[in-house]
Amino acid sequence: MINSLIHPKQGDKANSPWFDEFLVKLLENRDRTGLTEMIREIDALMLTVEPGCSAAYVSELALMTPYHYLVTLESESHWTHVLRIDMNSPDLLVREVRVPGRGDIFRSLNEVYPIGAHKPNSRYMGEIFRVSNLHEVVEQQKAREIRFFNQDQIRKLELPGNMAIVKPSPYTHNIVAYWERPPEDIRVYALGNSIILDDVNRGYLQAKEIQEELGLDKLIRPIDHLATRVYSQNREVAILEYLTLSSYYYWGSYDIANQNSSTNVTKSIHYPEERISPAKVFTAANHPYFVNHLVGLPSPTESFVRNYGPRLHHVALEVADGEINGLANIDYVVQAIRARGKDFLLDVIGSREEGLKQIFSSASEHSSLIVEYVQRFGNFDGFFTKQNVAELTHAAGVEENLRLLQAESEAANAVSA
Ligand SMILES: [Fe+2]
Repeated sequence: MINSLIHPKQGDKANSPWFDEFLVKLLENRDRTGLTEMIREIDALMLTVEPGCSAAYVSELALMTPYHYLVTLESESHWTHVLRIDMNSPDLLVREVRVPGRGDIFRSLNEVYPIGAHKPNSRYMGEIFRVSNLHEVVEQQKAREIRFFNQDQIRKLELPGNMAIVKPSPYTHNIVAYWERPPEDIRVYALGNSIILDDVNRGYLQAKEIQEELGLDKLIRPIDHLATRVYSQNREVAILEYLTLSSYYYWGSYDIANQNSSTNVTKSIHYPEERISPAKVFTAANHPYFVNHLVGLPSPTESFVRNYGPRLHHVALEVADGEINGLANIDYVVQAIRARGKDFLLDVIGSREEGLKQIFSSASEHSSLIVEYVQRFGNFDGFFTKQNVAELTHAAGVEENLRLLQAESEAANAVSA
């Protein structure tokens, strides 16, 4: 039997006795009931973008990531573009709402937050897990009070019909879906008609040509981790809920004290290689916003959540270890992408001596998501360094304040107009 508690805990962030007690109980139960065994890798990620944005976003992803445009699934109110690297890494499903103003639960989750409301359709939705026995997984999860959309709701949401989809988490607002697929079978999404959209394909091909010319296709690797931001009081429950829904284990938590934040990492128990099933990271402030005036520290993580709602903050991609003309690969990648007009929030931070270098891009104007690049040197097996995370968190916070000011001034203009 798999033991989800086999890995020693990393990190310096203390958890409550309640967390320590239920971490053990939940994982023991999950292993014993066979859920850990049945729930396998993350097979796809889903997100939505604003009407009219998906061609530009697919082109942006084609330049900045290893993803290829495969096909578009056309349904009544959506186009769902399937992006793929290969069958060893998760697909990316980019959904565009074809009808402006169309409402659903995902839009509603954006609308109550001051910046999130400005792009009400732009949202990372969640992960699809491959499972070995869909019926059994769903029955067991229902018995653990996990709530699923019913088939009629899935049809109305125009999500693939061959999955069981858990309703958005109260803590992360993300969904998890399960589908059964023998490992040797290709991924096929039961949704609408398969077409190739000319504008999407054109933008994709142009971006890939540039990516290859610059040699970026050999340097940018699949997704390393996905980082979700949650309210400070939801840190422990968000982690434990995700362990309940997945076959991930708790890797550990690091305190980023000077940014009033912590980074909490979970990883797949089955696949140590992140490219097969990315690590899932939860970031939360150490204190709720209303004591900031007493604590006297910046609070970029809590500010982000108050502005956008709990949601995915960034997708991190690995950059191959090595160098080009004396430049670390990550520096070369960033230089080349900057020259194509894409902004980054800061300069590349970290060093060979520290084991890794990292950087955040500006948030995509299409999806609001940030891309992180991370290059690990030699045999560095750490996940991150605290200094890097503090600098990244700070840089994202500065950008955050600018966006809030911008959103407030736009709202003020709208009222006075
Ligand atoms: Fe990250």
